[in-house]
Amino acid sequence: MKLPSFEPFKTKMVEPIYRSTREEREVWIKDAHFNLFNLRSDYVTIDLLTDSGTGAMSDRQWAALMQGDESYAGASSYYNLKDAIKEITGFNYFLPTHQGRAAENVLFSVLVKEGDLVPGNSHFDTTKGHIEFRKAEAVDCTIDIAYDFKARHPFKGNVDLNKLEEVLKKNPREKISCIIVTITNNTAGGQPVSMANLKGVRQLADRYGVKFILDSARFAENAWFIKTREEGYANREIREIVLEMFSYADGMTMSSKKDAIVNMGGFIGFRDEDLFQKASMFNIIFEGFITYGGMSGRDMNALARGLYEGTDFEYLSSRIRQVGLLGARMKDYGIPVLEPFGGHAIFIDALDFLRSVPKEEFPAQILAVEIYIEGGIRGTEIGTLMADRDPVTRENRFTGRELVRLAVPRRVYSDNHMDYVAAVAKNVFDRKESIKRGLRIIKEAPILRHFTVELEKL
Ligand code: F0G
Repeated sequence: MKLPSFEPFKTKMVEPIYRSTREEREVWIKDAHFNLFNLRSDYVTIDLLTDSGTGAMSDRQWAALMQGDESYAGASSYYNLKDAIKEITGFNYFLPTHQGRAAENVLFSVLVKEGDLVPGNSHFDTTKGHIEFRKAEAVDCTIDIAYDFKARHPFKGNVDLNKLEEVLKKNPREKISCIIVTITNNTAGGQPVSMANLKGVRQLADRYGVKFILDSARFAENAWFIKTREEGYANREIREIVLEMFSYADGMTMSSKKDAIVNMGGFIGFRDEDLFQKASMFNIIFEGFITYGGMSGRDMNALARGLYEGTDFEYLSSRIRQVGLLGARMKDYGIPVLEPFGGHAIFIDALDFLRSVPKEEFPAQILAVEIYIEGGIRGTEIGTLMADRDPVTRENRFTGRELVRLAVPRRVYSDNHMDYVAAVAKNVFDRKESIKRGLRIIKEAPILRHFTVELEKL
């Protein structure tokens, strides 16, 4: 018989999970003002808030930590990381940063100015935050089919090249900071972008003379989807695919907390020395000297190692299979989930799940709260709360998308945990008719409000 596949690692250290009661959780979530970010993590049974910085490092990465060189300038750890970035991404120049949004802050300090446009595929919220903070505009050029949750498309994260060209054609070149393509497209449901699409974006970038940057947090998962879904790539190695993806871009921002499987870290990769030089000044102001920028030597060592482990085909297959297992279980229970399943997370369609909660009452947030109360699972809202208010009108932005994201940390949970999560969601699904009202905001920040917002039940 064909042998089943299995995770290419075994467990050396474990961490206990506290099993709380429903009564405890009802009190805790009320005290947290119905914002799951305000919960203490020991009040959470299975934490699917994010796959960012929550992965388990390997024994090799922990060993690399011990060899960290903490010199202020020119540390060997910096050169280890430089070599790994060159080998994995092909970029000659890089700047370390403490995480992905710091990479955005440094790079956008050079590229983005007031009144600019930054076209791309559903920019991540910190990316959009950094653009709007500079009074520029993130223009979403994602393909329309991405917003049809049931539509089958192998690369639902793609950029609509016609929409992108319209933006480039209608506006002077100086007004376009750069094009940003996010791989995989987190906001659209962890959906991949095809190689053909990246090539198409490169051609438009060349035709209109603008820079093309990859927001690369989940670049390895994107490469896995290209290998398994795109014609001509089945026999190519993940690392070859990764090199080709990056070959189309002028630079990259990286949140290393995702596909490089470290708990903290980021970097910017550059093809061009000039842009690297300009960004270096901002790196020194915001992050630290250019050979450590926000990272300790040991962390750079662990990251260098993580770039190799995160691009291993067997590892990626087991990870994406596990996310798919969670999706398949929930689908079997009749729960409306976004398909095809994403690389790092399963997204529940809250508008379909909770049909009587009005859109003004944050249906995805109340669903996330109910799932927490039911079984201690922490997911996140990707809906009106996260979409923030329109910067000009200050009205809520209703994007038509009300999702609960269940993001799976790397190498942390077992398939049994996934079965538990699906069963909890099913129990909420069975009592969905009883959930008729949502939440009301009592306190919010002007930007990125979902992190700190306080709500009350209606
Ligand atoms: N880009 C993408 C596509 C992301 O998903 C994230 C973070 C960032 C940039 C920012 O990176 O957190 O290291 O500063 N996403 C996390 C998430 C927070 O839960 O999806 P960071």
